[in-house]
Amino acid sequence: MRFETPTLTHDPANHQYAPSWEGVDKLAGPSGFINDEHRGIYEATKDLPGWQDPGDSLKLYEAAYFSGAVILEVGVFGGRSATVELRGALAAQKAHGGPAPQFYGVDPDLNAYGRTMGTLRAQGLAERAMMYIGDLRQFLAEIPIVPTMVFVDGSHEFEGVWADLESLSRWLVPGTAVMCHDYSNTDVPVKPAIDEWVARGAYDLLSVSNNTAVLRATDQCQGTAPRGLSEAAFRATIEAMAPVYEHMKRPGPRPDMAHLTHGARFDLGLAVGKDMPAGEASGAAKVAVASGR
Ligand SMILES: C[S@@+](CC[C@H](N)C(=O)[O-])C[C@H]1O[C@@H](n2cnc3c(N)ncnc32)[C@H](O)[C@@H]1O
Repeated sequence: MRFETPTLTHDPANHQYAPSWEGVDKLAGPSGFINDEHRGIYEATKDLPGWQDPGDSLKLYEAAYFSGAVILEVGVFGGRSATVELRGALAAQKAHGGPAPQFYGVDPDLNAYGRTMGTLRAQGLAERAMMYIGDLRQFLAEIPIVPTMVFVDGSHEFEGVWADLESLSRWLVPGTAVMCHDYSNTDVPVKPAIDEWVARGAYDLLSVSNNTAVLRATDQCQGTAPRGLSEAAFRATIEAMAPVYEHMKRPGPRPDMAHLTHGARFDLGLAVGKDMPAGEASGAAKVAVASGR
């Protein structure tokens, strides 16, 4: 499984793209890029719906190349960053073999479903993507994968970013790369929420690439092993949810998907309920169950 830990640190005051995974140097030599696709990824995706600076796209491609077996994105909008990540992960699979990457996109806005799937279909990437309409807590309760990398680009409120990093700190395996967008954007209180979790010791801040902070989950994070769905369960869950999202109307209540996602929980060996319990709850317990502890 493609799950390597980023180790290279750079002055966070310098927002130029620079590698976070040592393997970039070995692959690319002095050019600093993994391959031509990496070098051109911003230009190739800049007209897709989304907001990326060149250093954001370069970093996401790099992260997915080295750690993109099970990609989790919080805040998908229209599939621009998803395209970057899937291209990086698929390039790594082509170069090194192994299972096909799985992309899990979480967004509470139903419009993100059609927009993103349209983008990914046009890019030939839809087969590798599962969209979930809801927030991160709901997603992890229903489809409790443990990702090998995360891109956090959802809520732009302090509380929302804080809550996502809190959930992830209970869930991720130490060493997992967490890229957080809008770190350099002073119009929104995203940076203070990230800085608070870094100060609490749950994440190391390795560097900043344009608007993207590169974090690494520390030993405080409570996951034990990354896990995706089997290919059969991945496909079956996508196909079970698709008609609901395709026919869903807004405004209206969020549909109950628990009966459509139970196959995913069964596949992961977990008999979990619909909601992640509060308090001592959460990822830690579920990961422990999954690993047989
Ligand atoms: C900036 S856009 C994402 C852009 C996308 N990552 C890209 O670069 O192509 C933010 C998205 O986050 C979604 N969002 C807002 N609050 C969220 C939350 N609490 N959890 C997940 N997504 C959220 C919005 O609906 C919107 O689609």
